[in-house]
Amino acid sequence: MQTRTKPIPFSRPTIDELEIDEVVDSLRSGWITSGPKVERFEAMFRERLGVEHAVAVNSATAGLHLAIACLDLQPGDEVIVPTLTWASTANVVELCGGRTVFADVDPGTLCLDPEDARRRITPRTRAIVPVHYAGQPADLDPLRAMAQEHGLALIEDAAHALGTFYRGEEVGASGGVTVYSFHPIKNITTGEGGMIVLDDEALAERLRLLRFHGVSKNAWKRYSGGGRPRYEVVEPGYKYNMLDLQAALGIQQLKKLEAFNARRAELAERYGRLLAEVPEITPLARVDYPAVHCWHLYIVRLDLSAVTLDRDDFMQALGEEQVGTGLHFPPLHTQSFFREKYGYREGSLPHAEQAGEEIFSLPLYPLLTDEDQDDVVSAIKKVVAAHRSAP
Ligand SMILES: Cc1ncc(COP(=O)(O)O)c(C=O)c1O
Repeated sequence: MQTRTKPIPFSRPTIDELEIDEVVDSLRSGWITSGPKVERFEAMFRERLGVEHAVAVNSATAGLHLAIACLDLQPGDEVIVPTLTWASTANVVELCGGRTVFADVDPGTLCLDPEDARRRITPRTRAIVPVHYAGQPADLDPLRAMAQEHGLALIEDAAHALGTFYRGEEVGASGGVTVYSFHPIKNITTGEGGMIVLDDEALAERLRLLRFHGVSKNAWKRYSGGGRPRYEVVEPGYKYNMLDLQAALGIQQLKKLEAFNARRAELAERYGRLLAEVPEITPLARVDYPAVHCWHLYIVRLDLSAVTLDRDDFMQALGEEQVGTGLHFPPLHTQSFFREKYGYREGSLPHAEQAGEEIFSLPLYPLLTDEDQDDVVSAIKKVVAAHRSAP
């Protein structure tokens, strides 16, 4: 018999009347693209983090693209990226004409291994892009030290890390370039969306320019309050601005972040307890420096020696039990574009490669009930019991 008849989705955004009313307010106002709500949402980020600038964009991918574009990479320039990340962290390096240099991850936490990153620094290295994987902070102190020593930019991919703290400081609050995502599965959502936060005034100005065609004024300022109609294309830019419709969602979602993250933490703690009874499934290790985990993802590893099916089939079997799961991520250096361009072979980045065969992500979001979670764990137990390896 199936564990459930009603599916448990891998993820589901928490949207209520407050978000709906705020979006409707924008729709009724006559202004739906970038405008006052984007400015308000940006101000909320500046205030939360105590940073000088917040630049709202239409995805974290766009934010990372702009941040890398501002490095003005020359052919042959290199950017170090952990291989266990979403495609866009590295794609944007390639799109900007750079060479992606993948680094391995810590075998327990799967965050970027700073020592492996250090070994990959060359005279052509321009930047390191740590990913705060699953919601735990990457070890920023050694990364900051090597960035300073070698004159490198540090661009934090905080797509998973809204509400994460590193050694007592919220990720993004340092004023270094940090990029968040508001994709529907993230800790807050704007449908699609992203935010770049930073202290550097000149860089913020360029990011704003490049976010909107390289034009020095945005449409709202031109057409409201009698602004002057002329504009100037300073350099070719992108169309990456966030809509007020998106910011309307974000304004209401950000107010609930603490409550959302508290429920995520409660569920994570509960998973830990429930899964302690299933030795074939192990949650990721916690970082050994002071940190607050924002629990974007609850990633577990499957002990492949203990069961007769591989991870993909295991996820499929859970799907047949109506339990949705996710894969974050197959290592990027094993993807055909990067493998062929850079000649990676099996064993190049062994920790990530092993994890890439074992990991999957369980449902974790504020709307998940304790009963749903019990059913997720029952389904896991059932699949394990049906496929246990012979002793
Ligand atoms: C680590 C990481 N970086 C960047 C992104 C890109 O975010 P977005 O979907 O907002 O472009 C994602 C998306 O899930 C991600 O997981």
